[in-house]
Amino acid sequence: MVQADSVIFIASAFVPVISSLAILYFKIQEQTLLRQLGVIFALSIAGFLATLKFIPIVSQLCLKAKIFGYDINKGGTEQIPESLGIVVGTIFLVCVIMLQPLFQTRIGEYNAALTAICFMILLGFADDVLDLRWSIKIGLSFLATLPLLVAYSGATTIIIPKPFQIFLGTSLELGLLYHLMMSFLAVFYTNSINILAGINGLEVGQSVVIGCSVLIHNMIQLALKHETDPQSTLLSFSLMLPFIATSAALLYYNWYPSKVFVGDTYTYFAGMTLAVAGILGHFSKTLFLFFIPQLINFAISVPQLFGLIPCPRHRLPTLNKKTGKLEHQLKEKWNLINLVLYIIGPRTERELGIIMMEIQVVCCGFAFFVRYYLSTLFYDN
Ligand code: UD1
Ligand code: MG
Repeated sequence: MVQADSVIFIASAFVPVISSLAILYFKIQEQTLLRQLGVIFALSIAGFLATLKFIPIVSQLCLKAKIFGYDINKGGTEQIPESLGIVVGTIFLVCVIMLQPLFQTRIGEYNAALTAICFMILLGFADDVLDLRWSIKIGLSFLATLPLLVAYSGATTIIIPKPFQIFLGTSLELGLLYHLMMSFLAVFYTNSINILAGINGLEVGQSVVIGCSVLIHNMIQLALKHETDPQSTLLSFSLMLPFIATSAALLYYNWYPSKVFVGDTYTYFAGMTLAVAGILGHFSKTLFLFFIPQLINFAISVPQLFGLIPCPRHRLPTLNKKTGKLEHQLKEKWNLINLVLYIIGPRTERELGIIMMEIQVVCCGFAFFVRYYLSTLFYDN
């Protein structure tokens, strides 16, 4: 049942969010910050409800405009409306624009964040409509990071891990190289979500889990008051809460069996929003840890992505119509989905979707362990 599964997912996403918000409430004495958190929360709820309402309406318009896809794993002939990420992206932007008064001191970076995300939504939608070539997509996604790089005024040094400090000193100034690194990271996040795809709910599901992890990380930073610059964390927080809320509404329709597809509009939007939060919130390294499944999928995909072996247009498993289960195609299609099926054996699409979500949750849990425990061995936190 579509609703039962997705309601459980959305509820489980909101449990950590709401409980951490409650902890924050008791930890933070500062009234202004509390009021700001309250405004962000209220707008996000409104964003969730608006997305829930508008997706069915826009779905009809997509079908009319012939923007649809076929559900390959079901061997379906039914036209499923595609690119519903456009609803999420638009409502997200409205929510974040309304939050502008909270960021008067960081207006340059705030506007750059919005421009970069907006640029990426445009690119994703263009890709859905025009079906751009792989090389053009990558080139354009570099362009979309430009507003962010131009506006970035934060530090461009990296802290050297303790064991290497005797060789390199405590920190290293990267200058322009740091900007280049940010650009590559944003392009990686965007495309890595897009290529870990093809089973119902996976693109949005992974983004919601990563989004929740980022939000929890932000809340820990705010609550622990480690933060020398709470405005950076607040900026990331104010991107993440509306992002999770609007994406959760999309997940409701996109979870198995999908009533809508998200399109590259969503995957590009999600990757860029997470990247922007990481860069402007100054936690790019931690964000990278949340992308472990995407990193593994990318590593397995490299030979096909770079044309060393042929890359089919779709790299999905195949449906065994007799058993109703998906079977791996690891020989021709090198990616994490096929590797998981190879290891655990054939599964239904719904079961595989849940397993992929569990892998993402476990990896994000591991990321917290590395960030808050292991990293103290390498860095002074
Ligand atoms: C990426 C993947 C491709 C995968 C596709 C699925 C790489 C290099 N590219 O391509 O292997 O097949 O995503 O999204 O790894 N679809 C389903 N079920 C779903 C989601 C999508 O059948 O749950 C199909 C639909 O036909 C839909 C199409 O995938 O129309 C969307 O594919 P698109 O996002 O355009 O593919 P890419 O991002 O280019
Ligand atoms: Mg895609």
